[in-house]
Amino acid sequence: MAKKRNIIVGQSGGPTAVINSSLAGVYKTAIERGFDKVYGMLHGIQGLLDEQYIDLSTQIHSELDIELLKRTPSAFLGSCRFKLPEIHEDKAIYEKIFAILNKLDIDAFIYIGGNDSMDTIKKLSDYAIITGHEQKFLGVPKTIDNDLALTDHTPGFGSAAKYIGASTKEIIRDAQGLSYKKNQITIIEIMGRNAGWLTGAAALAKGEDCAGPDLIYLPEVPFEIDKFLEKVRELLKKKESIVIAVSEGIRLADGRYVCELGSSVDYVDVFGHKQLTGTANYLANFLSGEIGCKTRAVELSTLQRSASHMASRTDIDEACMVGGAAVKAADEGDSGKMVVIDRVSNDPYMAKTGIYDVHRIANEEKLVPRSWMNRDATYVTKEFIDYINPLIQGDYSPMMVDGLPRHLVLNTKRKK
Ligand code: F6P
Repeated sequence: MAKKRNIIVGQSGGPTAVINSSLAGVYKTAIERGFDKVYGMLHGIQGLLDEQYIDLSTQIHSELDIELLKRTPSAFLGSCRFKLPEIHEDKAIYEKIFAILNKLDIDAFIYIGGNDSMDTIKKLSDYAIITGHEQKFLGVPKTIDNDLALTDHTPGFGSAAKYIGASTKEIIRDAQGLSYKKNQITIIEIMGRNAGWLTGAAALAKGEDCAGPDLIYLPEVPFEIDKFLEKVRELLKKKESIVIAVSEGIRLADGRYVCELGSSVDYVDVFGHKQLTGTANYLANFLSGEIGCKTRAVELSTLQRSASHMASRTDIDEACMVGGAAVKAADEGDSGKMVVIDRVSNDPYMAKTGIYDVHRIANEEKLVPRSWMNRDATYVTKEFIDYINPLIQGDYSPMMVDGLPRHLVLNTKRKK
């Protein structure tokens, strides 16, 4: 009997609106290329270590399921934030993973994730080379933060940016309505950790029908609280309502996060990332104390990364494309690499996939260039907007059932 050719796919790191579209791309392409089984790790590598996986054919039965999967936010298979030890630190964990892969006749291992997750692909592909295993390990980019190196942008970013642009516009509209002869300051806190790509997306609100946010603070540049107060006072001389977008990751020159100045949360994950929350709240309280007007803090939090009802069509399509490209690359013999998106042209927008050694990507952070911010780093430039604009275009209508978007959910009773 011919040897089975199976593939396994996992999702890792923070959720996005389109990570499941990458899963759909992996699944479809694996079937088209004749893989016998497509397994899904439940909760990524962490679940795999507990032998938690499913046969995806027990979950996806039709084209309609694939379409629903593409419109379902967060990680269909469950995600994890799990750091593999260095190979020399704990060989047993690698032996266990490869024993499971061998038992399942796995030829290709596909991991959809961000820079921390690419560390998993790097270590597993290195281990396979050292020990002579033949499995191929491929990474599929994913993160709303858009901070992965060597790819023009990451799937998940365009949809989150679209949601942030639209929400900023709605927040501005809401604030304007009630600001007759009365000052009001609204601060919007946006995710992205040390990278300001998402926060800059608040500028998308600016257009013919909206003035856009008044100030935008990215985490790449140290935050000066006195200058901030001065700017706000100046603006309030000219207009009643002001709206400010801040990154969750803005820091003072001494390295402290602004959110740490308030009653911050002390949680730190396995990659050493502190949970960032409360920046807008701290600044709203600070301004209220200094200026004595009404302030409001809006933390977009998880809403911005799982807003599939606002997902960008470009983003969904590209997420699916990179998933498929990873399967093709693994099938053709690549390993230890991550698929990237190369922008071929901006107008009309065209993109294609490329592929890079994951050692050049894992654990790296791509930040917003200083030249894409204005002189005092309180706004983003036209170059920034031109870069993002194509990524938020188009949509896929959600499949509405009983007034709400329908999602595809895992049926754990049907696993293998
Ligand atoms: O990495 C994606 C991200 O959404 C960051 O922007 C954010 O700082 C982090 O995840 C939040 O993660 P969690 O929801 O686990 O606190």
